[in-house]
Amino acid sequence: DWVMTDYANDFIEEVRAKVGPTDHVIGAVSGGVDSTVAAVLMTRAIGDRFHAILVDNGCLRKDEANQVLHRMKDDCGVNLRCVSASSRFLDLLAGVTDPETKRKIIGGTFIEIFQEEATKIEEEIYPARCEWLLQGTLYPDVIESVSHKGPSATIKTHHNVGGLPDTMKLKLIEPLRELFKDEVRELGMALGIDEASVWRHPFPGPGLAIRIMGEVTPENVRMLQEADAIVIDELVTSGHYRKIGQAFVVLLPTVKSVGVMGDGRTYENVAVVRCVETTDYMTANFYELPYAILGNMSSRVINEVRGINRLCYDISSKPPATIEWE
Ligand code: XMP
Repeated sequence: DWVMTDYANDFIEEVRAKVGPTDHVIGAVSGGVDSTVAAVLMTRAIGDRFHAILVDNGCLRKDEANQVLHRMKDDCGVNLRCVSASSRFLDLLAGVTDPETKRKIIGGTFIEIFQEEATKIEEEIYPARCEWLLQGTLYPDVIESVSHKGPSATIKTHHNVGGLPDTMKLKLIEPLRELFKDEVRELGMALGIDEASVWRHPFPGPGLAIRIMGEVTPENVRMLQEADAIVIDELVTSGHYRKIGQAFVVLLPTVKSVGVMGDGRTYENVAVVRCVETTDYMTANFYELPYAILGNMSSRVINEVRGINRLCYDISSKPPATIEWE
């Protein structure tokens, strides 16, 4: 695809002109397609002077940290370091239920961690200046976070756009800022990134924290991770994953439902499966998943995940609903 190859080459030239020979760049990788493509592009431009950082904020998908590590390091040759910060994030999130507060806490802590990692890189490598931060911001993120009608009309402060604190000293590099998601995938293919990475659904920076409608406790995270892993597994094995723009589970820990298990009554949590069809993530339709697959998901989640006794399917489209619940 020559358009995307040109786009990549232009960006690589631009970065080499902007970033000096002793400059290093750091960037977050989350496991979604955007940060993967941005990281590979940056690695092509400056090699190991790009440091991808995988922050385990305690709100990643089940086993995601290991999988991302393997894909980025072994498959894509990206210089990656992991920062295990689960308890740091979960301690700060304790007792917090407001969605925008969750985003601000997570976005702010991410930036603190990046600044700490930038300082470490400068201490470890001589001579190195680490003043740039790579972000996989897309065009729709820019439009939806920076509303023309002023801050009150902002839909959500995506932490990779509006949620960055003023105290951040790092300068931003945003190679995907002009692209829509389908163009990012094209770019990924033009860069030779393997299909499994290119077709991964996007995953929001605040992760599972904004898929728990209430407090982000370790127990809520565990239930959501397990249910989410089952749902994704069913979508992959049934061949629907690729046809879906984004699929995930939402946990409603403030709602309890009555159920029966064996001879006993249960009074437990409700979870919701969300699958949408979309190309640009600005609008989306709920995906018409066959009942048989929904049935498998429900019996597996309710039988295998301790603490969930009811599974629902979200049939809302965007607009008026957004893709995420928070
Ligand atoms: P919504 O929920 O606004 O989501 O319809 C559109 C796309 O954006 C992702 N999203 C986020 N990504 N930080 C991110 O990095 C965020 O705070 C955030 N909120 C939503 C969402 O997963 C979907 O792909």
